[in-house]
Amino acid sequence: MDDSEADNRAPPRRMIHGRRRGRKLKPLHARLWAQLLPRVRFAVPASGRLDASGLFSGHPQRLWLEIGFGAGEHLADQAEAHPEIGMLGVEIFENGVAKLLGAIARRDLGNIRLLLDDARLLLSALPDASIDRAFILFPDPWPKERHHKRRMVSPATLRELARVMRGEAELRLATDDADYSRAMLATALEAPEFEWLARRPSDWRSRPADWPPTRYEQKAIEAGRAPAFLRFRRRPR
Ligand SMILES: C[S@@+](CC[C@H](N)C(=O)[O-])C[C@H]1O[C@@H](n2cnc3c(N)ncnc32)[C@H](O)[C@@H]1O
Repeated sequence: MDDSEADNRAPPRRMIHGRRRGRKLKPLHARLWAQLLPRVRFAVPASGRLDASGLFSGHPQRLWLEIGFGAGEHLADQAEAHPEIGMLGVEIFENGVAKLLGAIARRDLGNIRLLLDDARLLLSALPDASIDRAFILFPDPWPKERHHKRRMVSPATLRELARVMRGEAELRLATDDADYSRAMLATALEAPEFEWLARRPSDWRSRPADWPPTRYEQKAIEAGRAPAFLRFRRRPR
């Protein structure tokens, strides 16, 4: 899609699959929702591309994107470890967003900006070659075959990621669902823009040291499931 096609963008509302709300927010989270969220939240423009770097003070040269960050453990840790990088997070589940707001306030993280909407809306709004690293960690597995079309990691998502990622940018995917991990790998290997970085089994069986854990990884390990950590490089443009 070029910039003219980005105009008249129709929000893919029908594609959102998952809960937006859970339990009522605790008083601290409700206060952060009212006071902090407006300072870190962004919207996608109704037409044209998003000025993603302009969302941050200091216009960072590098931007990382996390899709479906859940409660935001990984995003907060990466933001703290890399204060010079602008971190874009997209999530639809409000209780998860509230937890991340707690971490942003507690740890004074100034380099996170959030979209509370369908990740596919953000992907279609991002400019070409604007993202330096992207993460989709433990996306909902949708195990029933008739629901596979709801999976976030799909040929369409990888096409959009290939468009928005810079050459040499890294894509990190994780799942604890064996069928989804095979499907993720097959989809990424079929995408000509991506190259799998694993050379030996330990490369995808162990989480690299610069890859902070998430709540879903913890839950998977407690339940005896072995996660796969898949790293790909977007080939040079
Ligand atoms: C299984 S959870 C994993 C959360 C987190 N990444 C982790 O590892 O703990 C999947 C998350 O993706 C979010 N999600 C699902 N569909 C989404 C969409 N279309 N856009 C943005 N987030 C989405 C869900 O709300 C949920 O928080």
